[in-house]
Amino acid sequence: MSLNEGIPSTAAMPLPALYQRVRHHVPAVEWPAYAGDIEAILRLKAARNAVILAHNYQTPEIFHTVADIVGDSLALAREAVNTDADVILLAGVHFMAETAKLLNPEKTVLIADTRAGCSLAESITGADVRLLRQRYPGVPIVTYVNSSAEVKAESDICCTSGNAKKVVESLGAPKVIMLPDEYLAQNIAKQTKVEIVAWKGHCEVHERFTPGDIAELRKSYPGVTVLAHPECPPEVVAVADFTGSTAGMIGYVGQHKPARVALITECSMSDNVAVAHPGLEFVRPCNLCPHMKRTTLPKIRRALETMTHEVTVPEHLAGRARAAVERMLTVR
Ligand code: 13P
Ligand code: SF4
Repeated sequence: MSLNEGIPSTAAMPLPALYQRVRHHVPAVEWPAYAGDIEAILRLKAARNAVILAHNYQTPEIFHTVADIVGDSLALAREAVNTDADVILLAGVHFMAETAKLLNPEKTVLIADTRAGCSLAESITGADVRLLRQRYPGVPIVTYVNSSAEVKAESDICCTSGNAKKVVESLGAPKVIMLPDEYLAQNIAKQTKVEIVAWKGHCEVHERFTPGDIAELRKSYPGVTVLAHPECPPEVVAVADFTGSTAGMIGYVGQHKPARVALITECSMSDNVAVAHPGLEFVRPCNLCPHMKRTTLPKIRRALETMTHEVTVPEHLAGRARAAVERMLTVR
């Protein structure tokens, strides 16, 4: 199953068909080295009754060969609730695995590398949120899912880049605090009448893009359609043709089929989306997320063999953090 329009599921495809999907990224001579891990992972998934939920920033050999469900952060949170597997391996970063665990306390949630963090999640603590509550009494706190369970537990509701505006407006408050991504908060503030107080966290991948990069692109690639993720600085979003979550960008490409397109986001996005749109030209001025890249096929195989690394959430945080995520899932 895929939560990305136009990108089919990899589940239960034979190995030669899987190779066709990654042949632009994996030379034929290297395929046997990948195939061993892929076969083992497919076998282990069946034996463990496990599913692999993979974020859109995972590399093509993960995204297109072993993932059962692929999508943006919102889709992965929604699907974590729907699966009847006993084990969820989250091919992504730690906060995504924590969110899956919050929504599935009875399931085993695994991550392939415990160091797969996120600069946004690391920018704020639960104590910071408590101080903000004291400083802005009565102002609701909307927390981006790119945050720890400890921070979610101090929040009123979560959001993702795919539903942030709806979540902010669902509260019916004239003013909200939005954590921890300053640029996402500023980009949403431009789309709503609600006053937004931001935190100073940044995504280390998206903060590096500049309006100069976009101007350069437009000069070098005439006619290019530029799609920017809302974690980019507002000056970058202002000169893009569209802004949206990773799934939003995939939806835009599927709907508009721009002949030449640049996705201003993490590198694997274009690699993954290009597979479904071989006729389109993807210009690739990307930045790598080192955290997303910590997950590899050999590490996924080891995680399923050894049932490590299990992600858990301390009991004293889980109830309140879960409530903030579940409240988000009720916003449509
Ligand atoms: P989305 O896929 O929800 O747009 O999130 C992007 C991101 O940076 C996740 O870490
Ligand atoms: Fe965090 Fe940015 Fe990497 Fe996403 S891309 S995990 S927001 S550092």
